[in-house]
Amino acid sequence: MPDTCTTGERLFKELDEYIASTGAKPDKLISVLQKAQELFGYLSPEVQNHIAEMLKIPVSQVYGVVTFYNFFSTRPKGKVQVKVCLGTACYVKGADRIFERFLEELATSAEEPTKDGQFSVHAVRCLGACSMAPVVLVGEKDFYGRVKPDMVPRIIEKYREVNK
Ligand code: FES
Repeated sequence: MPDTCTTGERLFKELDEYIASTGAKPDKLISVLQKAQELFGYLSPEVQNHIAEMLKIPVSQVYGVVTFYNFFSTRPKGKVQVKVCLGTACYVKGADRIFERFLEELATSAEEPTKDGQFSVHAVRCLGACSMAPVVLVGEKDFYGRVKPDMVPRIIEKYREVNK
């Protein structure tokens, strides 16, 4: 690969190779979108247009699928995603205060990555662990149950260290 190849170009090349490996068929749209999100972190309009061209389908079809499934994102996210459950069981136990505390401690707004790109905070519906309400999921698999607002700084600190 030439040195002049930018990271973006490399990612598009990798995406194109993946699309070719699936046969570039329209019915592979979801797996292509998953691969693109894995590579780019989110699905920008540029990426969606590119996928539409490669699969020879209207971009409106790509956009329709991206917005239908909540695991697809059209905006950048932090490296570490904090998901605070605001489902009923968690909400009645004060999940809204935990959500606010994360935003305050990280000096960010909901869904927006922090300035250093390290974290983003998201409100989600029932994580399936209501007996441990209120629940926070950090990354893909770190569950925290019976969270209190005062625990928030310690949780954040743990991930700052891990990702230094
Ligand atoms: S409502 Fe939060 S885990 Fe079920």
